[in-house]
Amino acid sequence: MNRDNTYSAVMARKPEIMKASVGIDYSVFESGSISFDYERMMKETGYTLAEMQDIQYSTGVGNTPILELKNITALARKFAPQGKGARIFIKDEAANPSGSFKARRAANAVYHAKKLGYKGVIAATSGNYGAAVASQAAMQGLKCIVVQECYDSKGLGQPEIIEKARKCEALGAEVVQLTVGPELFYKFLLLLEETGYFNASLYTPFGIAGVETLGYEIAMQCREKYGKDPDVVVCTNAGGGNLTGTARGLIKAGAKSEIVAASVSLKGLHMASDEQFNKKSFTTGHTGFGIPFTTWPDRSDVPRSAARPLRYMDRYVTVTQGEVFYMTETLASLEGLEKGPAGNTALAAAFSIAQEMDQDQIILVQETEYTGAGKHIQPQLAFAKENGIEIIFGNPAEEVPGKNIILPAHPSMIKVKDSDMAKLRRSLVKNALEMTGKTPTEEDVEFLAKETKSDVEFVKNAISELKK
Ligand SMILES: Cc1ncc(COP(=O)(O)O)c(C=O)c1O
Repeated sequence: MNRDNTYSAVMARKPEIMKASVGIDYSVFESGSISFDYERMMKETGYTLAEMQDIQYSTGVGNTPILELKNITALARKFAPQGKGARIFIKDEAANPSGSFKARRAANAVYHAKKLGYKGVIAATSGNYGAAVASQAAMQGLKCIVVQECYDSKGLGQPEIIEKARKCEALGAEVVQLTVGPELFYKFLLLLEETGYFNASLYTPFGIAGVETLGYEIAMQCREKYGKDPDVVVCTNAGGGNLTGTARGLIKAGAKSEIVAASVSLKGLHMASDEQFNKKSFTTGHTGFGIPFTTWPDRSDVPRSAARPLRYMDRYVTVTQGEVFYMTETLASLEGLEKGPAGNTALAAAFSIAQEMDQDQIILVQETEYTGAGKHIQPQLAFAKENGIEIIFGNPAEEVPGKNIILPAHPSMIKVKDSDMAKLRRSLVKNALEMTGKTPTEEDVEFLAKETKSDVEFVKNAISELKK
């Protein structure tokens, strides 16, 4: 049988392709309106925490160390008011086989694919997740294809994305490199259909539940070593799975840590723009993903995303590109730890937030990631210069993404910027109504209160403001 493989025909087959390639019938969790049964979805399609730990530990994933950054803490205390300057810790997720926490997501997804009898896995990602899936597929004996959005229309690729392509290939995956635009999703669907492989999406319940072990470990290790839970946990935020899984794991451990999301501010840059694609020096953990996914999680490659960060977020802060570059060098030169950009985004935020906290408090950055040739500061700054970005020292608060990168003239200038949480919450309510086109029922209002970590009254007010 010859299938119609035009763009519109493949897009129209999306629901069947998704169902066959993820093995989940999402319709059973749907209410028919805005709400759906998130917890049931997580329970019925996920694994228990103990099962996930077994799956992960059997491939060397998890159980990563927590390190205290004594020298960076001492530096933060120099700029903090008297008695302030919390102890700063990191969970060294770069110690995972593929070099990032994404190994936790991939271990579960690949295990599940194998259990269901799929011969291979496909992941659409330009990031660490591709390497994680490739590594797990190699360990568990499945084939692996990674589809990457890699180049602008001139064929120029971000050094970090090229670096990750190399890593995926080194780990035995076939890498399909595409230019920026709608082609990616089309190609992804076609490949799923042609190969019959499993869609190792970042956003399935197996993947997100895989990160719960990270949150759980944080609580257990901190209790054992420091006698208490961290007061604040900072998570680098993009699609929201990192924060969601970590927070769920902390909750499962009974921890009540404040959960802070941190992203690099790329305000004003358009992610889908060919011209602006190479004007950014960060490929994940930035607001270009963080804000849209936080305020409407169901824009991913599965019908209902298991990553729902606004349910768990107490605070959302941004830092600048220059601040993260500076922090990356500080971590290397003061602590002897050379790590990649994503974890250092949360670290730059933690450095600033620690100065608001008491000295006996603990602030923990819940990940590091590996670094490599394309992820380093030098290739990134050289690439930025080639793309017309001015690199200067000064006040990072004046950085304009796409125009300049301002490395802080002094570490005391590293300061988080708080996002307006009420605005983010109202934005989710607005998106939920607009995207579904439904009039909210009482059940929807309760669902939206959970989605936004607010209450029924807040949601009702937000809805009535929208009607004005
Ligand atoms: C190392 C690392 N940290 C953090 C993130 C952000 O995770 P999420 O997209 O789940 O918010 C990513 C995602 O690309 C990542 O690779």
